[in-house]
Amino acid sequence: MFCKTTLITVALALLSSATPITHDDTLSSVTNGIHVPLQKRGSLKTADGVFDYERAVRHLVRQKNKFRQNLINLQKNFGADALPLGASIKALATLPSHLLSGKRGAVPLTDQSFDLEWTGPITIGTPSQNFTLDFDTGSSDLWVPAASCASCGSHALYDPSASSSGSKQNGTFSIQYGDGSTTSGLPYTDTVTVGGITVTNQVFAAVTNESAQFTSDPADGVFGLGFPALSRLGGQPFMFAAMAQGAAPSGEFAFKLDQNGSELFIGGTNPALYTGDIEFHNVTSKLSGFWQIGGGSVSVGGKAVASDFEAVIDSGSTIISAPPAAAKAFWDAVDGAQVFDADQGLWAVPCAAVPEVAFSWGGKTWTISADDFNAGLTDVGSTLCVGGLAGADLGLGEDTWLLGDTFMKSAYTVFSVDKSAVGFAQLA
Ligand SMILES: *[C@@H]1O[C@H](CO)[C@@H](O)[C@H](O)[C@H]1NC(C)=O
Ligand SMILES: *[C@@H]1O[C@H](CO)[C@@H](O)[C@H](O)[C@H]1NC(C)=O
Ligand SMILES: *[C@@H]1O[C@H](CO)[C@@H](O)[C@H](O)[C@H]1NC(C)=O
Ligand SMILES: *[C@@H]1O[C@H](CO)[C@@H](O)[C@H](O)[C@H]1NC(C)=O
Ligand SMILES: *[C@@H]1O[C@H](CO)[C@@H](O)[C@H](O)[C@H]1NC(C)=O
Repeated sequence: MFCKTTLITVALALLSSATPITHDDTLSSVTNGIHVPLQKRGSLKTADGVFDYERAVRHLVRQKNKFRQNLINLQKNFGADALPLGASIKALATLPSHLLSGKRGAVPLTDQSFDLEWTGPITIGTPSQNFTLDFDTGSSDLWVPAASCASCGSHALYDPSASSSGSKQNGTFSIQYGDGSTTSGLPYTDTVTVGGITVTNQVFAAVTNESAQFTSDPADGVFGLGFPALSRLGGQPFMFAAMAQGAAPSGEFAFKLDQNGSELFIGGTNPALYTGDIEFHNVTSKLSGFWQIGGGSVSVGGKAVASDFEAVIDSGSTIISAPPAAAKAFWDAVDGAQVFDADQGLWAVPCAAVPEVAFSWGGKTWTISADDFNAGLTDVGSTLCVGGLAGADLGLGEDTWLLGDTFMKSAYTVFSVDKSAVGFAQLA
């Protein structure tokens, strides 16, 4: 977790700067921009390369409900006027009945993972308790299972009585799922450490019962990296608290997502992982709470299909979600594309002709390879493959796209709390 190489690199960089460095206690606390190794857990493809339909649908339903909850939190925090233009809170998305039947209340405790997600280690409490969390730029709360949870599978549990720095807060916390279940818990504050950066009195929730949908998830919980406006708990999300406490050398954090060597770098960027400048774009409004930037355009197979749209960059989502009309325009431009599942907004395309997809915000072009855009065969022996872009109304407005990991793999992606901006750089 603690990367000595990075520390040495940073220290050397400081030593070689023109100003003489005197020893200073604040220095050690600001030289620890640190990488957190991430692991890819689960996949939308089965071992034989077939699109895992059930897993994908669960993911899409959960994604819709995450954004629904984000908008509810935003409205609660700042009133209805705070919702972005064109945004509206949709009905709770539910799993199709054929996926629900026989599942509710009787979930096998297998190691099956429902989502493709990127998990990494954090610790909470004194002495520290370990957790593996899903780092999510598309939400703003931190939650882990509580010691009192009887339905949390084999997940790591937070025991407040075993932490000298923990303190229970007033209020409750809950998340509604598309299978009709609710996860609920209680808020706490405690010391939280990620990659060598320690925040005291971090607000989080410890859930006392876990939704059937989450029990077998590879992550113990979620580490929200969005803006405070989306927080249900109402506290400062970790990176914001770290800046307020002077605990991080900078308010930047950055993701490299790849098959191997994926990492989250906290408190700066990791120069070993990208080349050239970072192209920054200011977020549309930090009051909207999303890592959302405007002025995007996209082409598919070299054909321009949409421009001047808003994009939320969401590490907690797998595929790209476009507003339904934009998704249709996108797929209309792809030869041989056909609807695969109208309810879920999924399309299929001949596997031999999966297109390259390129996004731009007026600077460099960030290209998703056909391989990364291919979500797998529609069926064993099929010549059609499912595309990594779905049409979905997330309630964010007609002009707002959601760019998940499928996009983030195409660039080193930087989130700056200091600048309220998202940056992209060429992967090394
Ligand atoms: C927590 O994780 C660290 C680093 O992997 C490990 O050294 C330590 O033993 C773990 N602690 C517990 C209680 O599992
Ligand atoms: C919880 O609420 C009670 C009653 O309103 C109040 O006295 C107490 O200070 C609150 N505790 C915290 C941690 O906010
Ligand atoms: C969790 O507890 C809440 C509150 O008691 C309840 O409404 C909800 O149904 C429970 N969820 C599960 C998955 O048991
Ligand atoms: C990832 O690691 C595996 C095993 O070490 C290796 O076989 C594979 O080539 C690596 N892939 C990439 C893209 O580096
Ligand atoms: C981005 O925001 C900064 C302030 O944080 C401002 O100085 C700069 O002009 C903005 N850039 C653009 C292109 O609007």
